[in-house]
Amino acid sequence: MNKTGCSVHVIMTKSAQMFITPLTFQTLTQNKVHTEMFERLSAVTVEHISLAKAADAALVAPATANILGKLAHGIADDMLSTVLMALPSQTPLLVAPAMNTAMYEHPATQENLAVLKRRGVHVIAPRESRLACGDVGRGAMAEIETILDEMERAVR
Ligand SMILES: Cc1cc2nc3c(=O)[nH]c(=O)nc-3n(C[C@H](O)[C@H](O)[C@H](O)COP(=O)(O)O)c2cc1C
Repeated sequence: MNKTGCSVHVIMTKSAQMFITPLTFQTLTQNKVHTEMFERLSAVTVEHISLAKAADAALVAPATANILGKLAHGIADDMLSTVLMALPSQTPLLVAPAMNTAMYEHPATQENLAVLKRRGVHVIAPRESRLACGDVGRGAMAEIETILDEMERAVR
């Protein structure tokens, strides 16, 4: 349990692991960090299904343009996208997009977000700020407090 009383299970994409090590989240959450689809083929449970079933809510933060595209189009080619596809329909799914302004404003991203919203996905809008690339504009991930508030509202 963390200080909000939640047990957090982190899934990291290959790209996410270029920025932060799984060990960091493993230490913070005291839970195994999931990165690979095929590492436990010998286990009795199919991990992506059991993870999806066990969740009270799922949050993708930061949500890249890539994962939004995959989610909107039903692509399940890694651990994260597969767990999200296996999420029971009643389990709240939240996404907190974060990307360069041009990527955020790209029609593909906007259409993907519209599709996800129509399906009941909670989209936590990005902020306007100076971005990692140096540009100033919309695309910075929402504040953590905002994300936690939305999460709490979604599971209520
Ligand atoms: C330094 C750096 C920063 C990046 N930041 C973002 C970002 O904020 N948002 C985004 O959508 N993509 C960003 N990208 C591109 C993604 O890493 C790339 O689209 C990747 O395929 C995403 O994979 P994933 O969705 O599986 O994590 C960044 C790439 C680099 C090298």
